[in-house]
Amino acid sequence: MENPQWAIDLTAFPKNQKIRFMDSVTYGIRGMPAWEDILKTEEIQALWTYVYTGGIK
Ligand code: HEM
Repeated sequence: MENPQWAIDLTAFPKNQKIRFMDSVTYGIRGMPAWEDILKTEEIQALWTYVYTGGIK
């Protein structure tokens, strides 16, 4: 999550914006493609839980 070369630092993603996370990842946003053909909704939910809780240190 931290300092990815081509993306954004997800540790800084606002924790009160789950819907924005789900929409951005599902449908894509600016530089990022959509993931809806690759990830199921439950998998994106699981990614949100990972981001929300701060991931594995
Ligand atoms: C499945 C894994 C990924 C997740 C969960 C993820 C999640 C996110 C999220 C939540 C944002 C912020 C969207 C917003 O501001 O609302 C973002 C932005 C972005 N992501 Fe990803 N991302 C993933 C994979 C990638 C990959 C592999 C790339 C590059 C090849 C990428 C490139 C970008 C870029 C360039 C942005 C910034 C868009 C902008 O602000 O202009 N992402 N990503």
